Amino acid sequence: MKENVFDNVLLITGGAGFIGSHLTNYLVRNYPNYRIIVLDKIDYCSNLKNIHVYDYPNFKFYKGNILDQLLLNHIFLNEKIDIVFHLAAYSHVDNSFFDSIKFTENNIMGTHYLLEMSKQYSIQKFIYVSTDEVYGGGNSISDNSNNSISNKVLPANENITILKPTNPYSASKAGAEQLVSSYYHSFQLPIIITRGNNTYGPFQYPEKIIPKFIYQLNDNKPCTIHGTGENKRSFIYIDDMIKAFDIILKKGLIGETYNIGTDFEISNLDVANTLISLYKNDIKNNNNNKNIIDNQLIRYIPDRPFNDYRYFINCSKLKNLGWQQSIPWEMGIKLTFDWYTKNKNYWSTTTTTTSISAPDPITFDKINKNNQQQQNEKKISTTTTTLILCSNDD
Ligand SMILES: NC(=O)c1ccc[n+]([C@@H]2O[C@H](COP(=O)([O-])OP(=O)(O)OC[C@H]3O[C@@H](n4cnc5c(N)ncnc54)[C@H](O)[C@@H]3O)[C@@H](O)[C@H]2O)c1
Repeated sequence: MKENVFDNVLLITGGAGFIGSHLTNYLVRNYPNYRIIVLDKIDYCSNLKNIHVYDYPNFKFYKGNILDQLLLNHIFLNEKIDIVFHLAAYSHVDNSFFDSIKFTENNIMGTHYLLEMSKQYSIQKFIYVSTDEVYGGGNSISDNSNNSISNKVLPANENITILKPTNPYSASKAGAEQLVSSYYHSFQLPIIITRGNNTYGPFQYPEKIIPKFIYQLNDNKPCTIHGTGENKRSFIYIDDMIKAFDIILKKGLIGETYNIGTDFEISNLDVANTLISLYKNDIKNNNNNKNIIDNQLIRYIPDRPFNDYRYFINCSKLKNLGWQQSIPWEMGIKLTFDWYTKNKNYWSTTTTTTSISAPDPITFDKINKNNQQQQNEKKISTTTTTLILCSNDD
């Protein structure tokens, strides 16, 4: 029997990151009957300003690590979690080439701890947010539906396309996916997996291509293009991604995997060209006298050790649930450019204008009454924190 008035208690891991914060803001505002708990370790790519719902009665924030089993146990036990939306991960491909062990530890071990906890507390739903990158480069997907392997390139299908991750990031996401599936088969854990396209929009840390290029341009620097820039990407605007999560949360079938994406594809070079023309318009509209030299707005840099050519996915399963893309590229990229241009200091601001205590700060209850207590107390001091909020720029 539940002690609170909420229909469900939903844990979002990684809720202070780009996608997680949009999901958090959306669910807290639109589902007052859900209690939303965020667990995030506040890494370099997170921003507490991304979360706009601290004052809502159905929201609670924990600063902590999914690798911390004591903290996980505390949260599952005391908050009575019944749905998990697992987004916490190291997410930047470039970093994974240099620090790949950490990706395995964080993305695979972290997922495993969460699965174990979810099993122990018999939760109702575990949604694992994976990526289209688990399919690999995308131009070698074979259609073997007639038992004859053809070389025809088909969009990746959740049920038949073999996973072929090509970098340590996507491999860690695929590895975690396999664990998630295994808990479904072995322990009947009610899981759903999502595989999303590249997502873009406000609040994304400027290491990812779109905000990075906007930052570079606004800083009078050229967009830095990996290799020739011919590699294609499919970009989906953040609001469409969140709507997909909403539908999957409500209508997604247990045990299923859902691709989330768009048919639209664009080369990295054309992403830069699009942003350059938005940048030039912006300068013109603001009567800015900046002297722009066209051929200095793009700089080619060495390619990644391996750079997937494209991610090409079939989203008909998701569309059958009622989802459709509503923000086309032209609209989404303009919204994004405008937001980053208006919020130039969002990521670099270090001065804090407001300091508040975390709403309902983490109090690490006495979880175990046995001799682990001392160890727990040691952890309390490292996981309890005061949140510092900067003034909101948007
Ligand atoms: N951004 C995309 O284009 C995209 C596309 C498809 C799927 N995804 C997946 O969506 C998820 C979120 O991506 P994002 O772009 O918002 O990433 P992000 O890097 O902006 O945010 C990740 C968040 O997870 C937190 N985190 C990381 N490790 C943690 C740990 N051990 N314990 C607690 N918190 C931890 C970070 O502090 C950060 O706030 C990831 O799992 C990613 O693989 C992203």
